[in-house]
Amino acid sequence: MTTCAVVGCVQIFDGEFSPYSASHSIADVAAANVLKAAILCAFGSFHILKWPVLSTVAAAVALICTKMALFRGWTDGHGAAAAVLLVTTACTLCQLAAVRSSSFVNDYGEADPDVELMPTVAVTTVPKSETAISSNAQSKSPLSFQYLPEEDDDLAEPLLTGDYDEVEAGGHNGGNGKGGRAPAADGKVRGQNGGNGKGVRTPAADTKASTMRSLLHYAQPDALLLSLGLCFLLVSATARLALPNFTSRCLAAVVSSEGDGKDHLFNNLQFRNNLAYLVGTAAVYAFFSMLRIWCTAKAEVRLMARVQRVLFAAIMRQDISYFDKYGTGQLTSRLTSDATMLGAIITTNCNWVIQTSLSLFGSMGYLFFLEPRLAGVYVAIATVFFVITRQFGSFVRKLQKKIQDVKGDANQVADQSIALARLVRAFAAEEWEQHHYDKSNLDMVREQLRSKMAYSLYVPVVAIVQNALTFAVLCLGGFYVTRGQMSGADLTAFLFYSQTVQDNMNTLSEQIISLFQGLGAGEKIFEIIQHQPTLPITGGLVPPGEPKGELKLNNVGFAYPGSPQLRVIENMNLTIRPGERVAAVGPSGGGKSSLVGLVLRYYDPVQGTVLFDGHDIRVLDPRWLRRQIGVVTQDPFLFGVSVRDNIAYGRPDMSLEEVHRAARLASAHDFILQLPLGYETVLGERGVTLSGGQRQRVAIARALARQPKLLILDEATSALDSSSEHEVQTALQTLHAKTRTSMLIVAHRLSTIQDADRILVIQRGHIVEQGTHTELLARKGVYSVLVSRQLQTELLEGDQP
Ligand SMILES: Nc1ncnc2c1ncn2[C@@H]1O[C@H](COP(=O)(O)OP(=O)(O)O)[C@@H](O)[C@H]1O
Ligand SMILES: [Mg+2]
Repeated sequence: MTTCAVVGCVQIFDGEFSPYSASHSIADVAAANVLKAAILCAFGSFHILKWPVLSTVAAAVALICTKMALFRGWTDGHGAAAAVLLVTTACTLCQLAAVRSSSFVNDYGEADPDVELMPTVAVTTVPKSETAISSNAQSKSPLSFQYLPEEDDDLAEPLLTGDYDEVEAGGHNGGNGKGGRAPAADGKVRGQNGGNGKGVRTPAADTKASTMRSLLHYAQPDALLLSLGLCFLLVSATARLALPNFTSRCLAAVVSSEGDGKDHLFNNLQFRNNLAYLVGTAAVYAFFSMLRIWCTAKAEVRLMARVQRVLFAAIMRQDISYFDKYGTGQLTSRLTSDATMLGAIITTNCNWVIQTSLSLFGSMGYLFFLEPRLAGVYVAIATVFFVITRQFGSFVRKLQKKIQDVKGDANQVADQSIALARLVRAFAAEEWEQHHYDKSNLDMVREQLRSKMAYSLYVPVVAIVQNALTFAVLCLGGFYVTRGQMSGADLTAFLFYSQTVQDNMNTLSEQIISLFQGLGAGEKIFEIIQHQPTLPITGGLVPPGEPKGELKLNNVGFAYPGSPQLRVIENMNLTIRPGERVAAVGPSGGGKSSLVGLVLRYYDPVQGTVLFDGHDIRVLDPRWLRRQIGVVTQDPFLFGVSVRDNIAYGRPDMSLEEVHRAARLASAHDFILQLPLGYETVLGERGVTLSGGQRQRVAIARALARQPKLLILDEATSALDSSSEHEVQTALQTLHAKTRTSMLIVAHRLSTIQDADRILVIQRGHIVEQGTHTELLARKGVYSVLVSRQLQTELLEGDQP
């Protein structure tokens, strides 16, 4: 259609401006607009192109009107003009209608290959012997297990294909991969080896090339869009390449008609034609650039969202030990800044690299075509200068990088001081913090000045180099022109193109650098995506019938993957019978929370087995297991959503009655009703609008709402004042009387667990004593010492006021 417009323009400038040709031109432009609208309709995405389209149409109308007014075509052609206006209005209306009906917003692409974000563990074929061993001679036959419904095989395509088949097949988490199904005991075997990821094959993507391949894989759903973008890019880049040629030809025509006495420059045919070509080519360039940007930007946005989505899923399924190892900041920056950099590779970087390469080599070729000797000399000098400026540029960049580091340090100081403002105030450490900040601030100033100084040198160096090149071309080219070996027009064109070559050299090298930076970011992202956790989050066996809530530890030993030498739990044997209330006490660091982590299967033991209802938890579906266990920790995190949603967390289908019931059981109902919006009150970040005790009770309600068969409280009431603690205590007793839920209560205040069925004293990873309160007191061991110590403290505290 742009060609039509170009032809129209040429016709306008060409010939005698007869009404006949004018209406022809109008017809062409109108046809161009109709065609444009049709093509855009086919793409169905004017919501992005709305304004460019409208303004192009408006410009076309304005152009036609101006032309007709100027060249008296109006009287003859007003019928045609009216037609054009009508057609354009109709087209615009069509376009707007298409915008409204467009369904392109918010989707990731029609054929997203990465739909299986939470792959099920392929525990479908458990070897009989394994199950028999792991369920520890239980009476049930392994065949009595019911399997989780299998995922649709189409959906269960591996996350990545191609290079990653191997990885997928090796890791148990993407178990439905083509490589076959990993047996259930896979995790178990690894666990017993003390494996924290050692059994998993290392990801294939440790090179830039494979990062690029993975990226292309994720870009697949937008292949059409990207190919279109590439086509548009080729057209626009070619048009851009041709522009200086027409400019120089026009200039040559102007120069040649200098003082020739003709009244109108437009009568110069050479000028007129080249101007028309210039306008036409510029229009082609502008229009196709717009299409290219639209196509690639859309692909980039969708690609980024797709990668982020898969990355988020990959992060969420990692082992707890993975989160111990990598901080929140690291993982979130993968998700934000790294993903952005990666997304930019396809559009911004690749686009520019292709466009500038085309432009660079095209211009260079044209230089050689114009005058090979001059071109040879030019390219040789330009390359040398380019290397020099690059070196200098990388020096400046290094300085800049240093500034970033120093800035980061200063920001970190500020971040911490601001975040811990209360602490700073409490310790009257404002001056100390100021001193700290001033120091890094001063470093920043120093580094910045250094870099600015270098930059102030860099700019003139570049300017000198550029002008020296122009100087060389002018001198040598001028020499050829005076000797008649080159035309003036060619020299003008040469100058224009040499400028293009220089610009493109710089752009290309910059773009290649950021391309590699993007690939670096991508490497880190795909590393996480391909990192297979050792513990599954879903998939496995679900025992039939109603769960009883029995917990058993058989000779369990455990060390954190981060410090495998240090056994935090050793040879621990323990049984919590259904409905039993067991308390665990002991000095801090004794291993109580680690025990809780093992029961929830945050980690696998390095020795022995943990059994729930008689089944090794390693063969059970972790999701099912965790559904049977309610847990409340010492500093419970509440989400920034309503109280109701916090209590019904993870179960959006929970009725309001169930939520109320859970809140009542946790003695939270009354205070929740007093909140501004009751159950609909949205909690602030980390639930700051609630007091510690209130937060704790909401967290208890959240655990109870799932009606767990085993309730674990890890120092859940430690932060409560005595009266709230007493309330929760009574609530728990009532709950226990009603539901006979098994309980494991890790407590700090011994007074709260005196009525437990059994008390365990855990010290240095061992259960050193167990029995009822009276039994343990009578034994006069560790427990009685702990009790008397706490009694003394409480007495002292009681004396104070
Ligand atoms: N994520 C972890 N990584 C490595 N070591 C840990 C981790 N969490 C706790 N530990 C260590 O394990 C030991 C037991 O801690 P924990 O189970 O929290 O004790 P308790 O809950 O009884 O106070 C401590 O020595 C502690 O330093
Ligand atoms: Mg603890």
